[in-house]
Amino acid sequence: MTRMLRLLLVAGARPNFMKVAPLVWAIHRHNVAAGEKRQEGGKLESNGERTVQYRLVHTGQHYDDKMSEVFFRELGIPAPDFNLEVGSGSHAVQTARIMERFEPVLLNAFSDRTSDLRPPSSDRKPDWLVVVGDVNSTMACTLVAAKLGIKVAHVEAGLRSFDRTMPEEINRIVTDSLADLLLTPSEDANENLRREGVPKHRIRLVGNIMIDSLVHNLPAARQSRILADHGLERGRFVYVTLHRPSNVDQRESLTAIMGELIRLSQELPVVFPVHPRTRKMAAEFGLDQAGNGMLRIIDPIGYRDSLCLSENARLVLTDSGGLQEETTYFRTPCLTLRPNTERPVTVTHGSNRLTTTEHLRSDIVRALNGGHRSGIIPPWWDGQTAGRVLGCLMGASVLHGVEGPCGTGKGS
Ligand code: UD1
Repeated sequence: MTRMLRLLLVAGARPNFMKVAPLVWAIHRHNVAAGEKRQEGGKLESNGERTVQYRLVHTGQHYDDKMSEVFFRELGIPAPDFNLEVGSGSHAVQTARIMERFEPVLLNAFSDRTSDLRPPSSDRKPDWLVVVGDVNSTMACTLVAAKLGIKVAHVEAGLRSFDRTMPEEINRIVTDSLADLLLTPSEDANENLRREGVPKHRIRLVGNIMIDSLVHNLPAARQSRILADHGLERGRFVYVTLHRPSNVDQRESLTAIMGELIRLSQELPVVFPVHPRTRKMAAEFGLDQAGNGMLRIIDPIGYRDSLCLSENARLVLTDSGGLQEETTYFRTPCLTLRPNTERPVTVTHGSNRLTTTEHLRSDIVRALNGGHRSGIIPPWWDGQTAGRVLGCLMGASVLHGVEGPCGTGKGS
């Protein structure tokens, strides 16, 4: 009989949680289906009927209730099996802390003992480490597994901003150069990987896993009370999120942006849930009192409330990766306050446009004078990505190194 497939999943920071949740749901669905087949007397050795066992690691890179726990609750993610509680720090400190604490967990993930550094044995180590996105936790855990010879699958591989001043770009390059299986959200990511010389058999276009979470949560998001709570009308407000160091860590840029938001709020209500990093910098620059009646500066919000704002806003202004994708799905006009994007498909297919602090005012005017909905939903953003990821992992564990499609996804 084929042994069960063991997956170790890692989540660390807010944008990871909506990428890990669909994997957890897909594993549960697969195991229920495999159990039913077994009861019907199906063939146990067939690959599709293998049970999948998983463990979940939370590195603790994000730790506030509003940055972490609310997402576990709303997305129905079970409590993590391991919490590394690394907290905040410089990039080096945070990365090093994750690596140090993750190593014993990885070696013993499937045993009860996690306190020692015994060499990995086949009954304690996972078949695959599965990492998502581009945060420090993604890169740190990949590095640990690669050094221990444990296979890594990267979900959301191949995205490139070509801007190495972004910490996430470094994380993407390191993760993709070490991972064994590169699961991409869109064709541009495949092209980037091919250009970097990644062998074709390691690349699989599976689609955008963020959209699985979005589709699943849409009915609940449409019940959200956030519009009523803040007196907002559908299609008559602007939703703002900003947290990138390039926008919020310098006094000049944050002051200029806040000035534009105050100005904009004289035309339309602006709702701005503030990331802890932005709040800290605003306080340091004396900008924390900038809110007024029409510029609503509020605490970070949960996932469903955020979906509700993205779907119903007249315009979204952001520097987040996830919001570029969610607005593309909703076809809500989006201005991304960055010189580049690692998600070009949101511009070529979707409703996203890049802007700068200098052009912000004119770009806002242009966006508000344009249509309410624009763009198309890119291929493979269909809510079925996690099933394809799992199909690849099941196929890849048998077919590793053999070129060909896996799951129901398209081979590169
Ligand atoms: C991290 C990710 C970024 C992602 C963002 C989403 C990296 C390099 N960056 O950036 O890609 O878009 O998360 O939120 O991995 N803080 C809290 N509570 C928390 C977490 C952070 O108060 O739960 C504060 C701390 O003061 C910390 C600051 O926010 O110093 C920044 O947090 P950090 O995890 O370093 O980076 P993010 O800016 O959140």
